[in-house]
Amino acid sequence: MPFTSNCLEGKVILITGGLGAIGRVVVSRLLAHGARVAVNDVVPEKSAEAAMQEAGWPQDRCRYVRADITQASEAQAAVAKAREYFGRLNIVLCHAGMAHSCPIVDYPESEWERIMAVNLKSAFLVAQAAARAMIEQGVKGKIVFTSSWVQDTPWPDITPYNVTKSGMKMLMRGMARELAAKGIRVNSIAPGIVAVGMAKRQWDTEPDYRRRAEKAIPLGFMQPPESVADAFLFLCSDASDYMTGTTLLVDGGCSLYPMD
Ligand SMILES: NC(=O)c1ccc[n+]([C@@H]2O[C@H](COP(=O)([O-])OP(=O)(O)OC[C@H]3O[C@@H](n4cnc5c(N)ncnc54)[C@H](O)[C@@H]3O)[C@@H](O)[C@H]2O)c1
Repeated sequence: MPFTSNCLEGKVILITGGLGAIGRVVVSRLLAHGARVAVNDVVPEKSAEAAMQEAGWPQDRCRYVRADITQASEAQAAVAKAREYFGRLNIVLCHAGMAHSCPIVDYPESEWERIMAVNLKSAFLVAQAAARAMIEQGVKGKIVFTSSWVQDTPWPDITPYNVTKSGMKMLMRGMARELAAKGIRVNSIAPGIVAVGMAKRQWDTEPDYRRRAEKAIPLGFMQPPESVADAFLFLCSDASDYMTGTTLLVDGGCSLYPMD
């Protein structure tokens, strides 16, 4: 069975936005299964080191890579650092993201540009740099994008966010098509309404959002971040080797019907 405690042994994984709420749970899961993990985020080194220590991540298998991946040079440097630390790169998880809640008629142009850069451009830059590294090293690696159930569902007040995740879907499918001949698999994970991170912030601060969200999860409860980590474990493991160009939807049924 592929999900033993050492099933990711020998795999070097770079995750962007790895110090976010979901990212931390994912990193812990990958480390628990033997991976070596380069954790990218934008937070300063000092607070990153403190967070990593608090999480109990082993220093010999986990390194912090500070980079603002909306900048091409920094995205490329993040990939180069992961290779430098651990010798190669097997898997990249394009996970960093943001959300900004605002009706589309009021949505400012500057916020549109920011969310396109953080969610979509950065994913392209990091995935491209990782693909180049894999090709150069002859690694039949994996690229995983963190999308969302809203990639196919117009969930209100975050329309530009939905657009970034829809764009990510085609980026994923296009890269899967182009890179298959090199043995590189490209897939997405689409979580639902997770009980930590950006959805939880909206849940706690926006009564309208909460009213809608409470009715929108067929399974009836917010998504445990551990279920997202399980999906990552599957996509990082050899069990997913015959999968490319598709979305692993783990959303408690949210996408079954667009409920308000
Ligand atoms: N929380 C949810 O319900 C939910 C649902 C579906 C998908 N997602 C996706 O999961 C991912 C993580 O979301 P989260 O809820 O944990 O959010 P979060 O805000 O807790 O984490 C996002 C992380 O990305 C980092 N980041 C932002 N800009 C960056 C940049 N330019 N360079 C490097 N790092 C950067 C942030 O510092 C933060 O640590 C996102 O892609 C999000 O769209 C979240």
